[in-house]
Amino acid sequence: MQIVRGIEELRRAREALEGSVGFVPTMGALHQGHLTLIKRSTGENDHTIVSIFVNPTQFLPGEDLDSYPRREEADRRICEIAGVDILFMPEVSSVYGKDEVTLKAPEYLGYILEGSRRPGHFDGVVQVVMKLFNLTRPDRAYFGKKDAQQLVILQKMVKDLFLPLKLVPVETVREDDGLALSSRNVYLSPTERAEALAISRSLKRASRLVMAGELSSEAIKQEMYAIMKALDVEYVEIVDRSFRPLEKVKIQDTIILVAARVGRTRLIDNLWI
Ligand code: PAF
Repeated sequence: MQIVRGIEELRRAREALEGSVGFVPTMGALHQGHLTLIKRSTGENDHTIVSIFVNPTQFLPGEDLDSYPRREEADRRICEIAGVDILFMPEVSSVYGKDEVTLKAPEYLGYILEGSRRPGHFDGVVQVVMKLFNLTRPDRAYFGKKDAQQLVILQKMVKDLFLPLKLVPVETVREDDGLALSSRNVYLSPTERAEALAISRSLKRASRLVMAGELSSEAIKQEMYAIMKALDVEYVEIVDRSFRPLEKVKIQDTIILVAARVGRTRLIDNLWI
């Protein structure tokens, strides 16, 4: 595995790859969820590039940019074992310059739900992902469905900007007890971790309700809020794949989204129906 930090070095390393290239962009602190993305990429492509870059432009002032978990050595080993060809770990100063040309997330999709709680977050995401796509020129790029809004925005970016690559959505990976894997789970104390399980339990309940024929968003949301009553729930929303709110669940075109604070940690999770 080649470890690459510089932009020109990455360009040269990418140039030397023959055959199909899969790309997994990450912010590091790799867990089983990332490993699933990487394995999917190594299985479907001749080569896999992983990036580890804690992207400052997607953090709002006061968010956890400085304390975001960084585990370079462990991440490196994971990538090596997983069969990654190139691990790209740039410095902020090589990725960003001054007074840049910037991309903007869509007015609607980029500024509702996660975007309204974290205004500008998705602008930073599209900016960095576009840069990374331009540098790695992948045939396929792998993103987790846990960050549903990010995934849908990036799918739109690929479509709107005619990018020559395929985005591959990958199922959320969960602990045995249902907790969705996230690099931010390390912030949870054991008590908070136990409390956080109410989020996945509420989604499981929603799934059961839908399977039993309950399609009313209001009824489903009420039950979900009841399960999460001990948490500081920011939102429960039931939307279609374009993130338009739904009064009734539409099979094959619904995402149920939750954002909640557990202690000082903000967690998101969702269910694609
Ligand atoms: O999902 C993430 O880890 C980040 O938002 C991404 C896609 C790597 C961009 O910084």
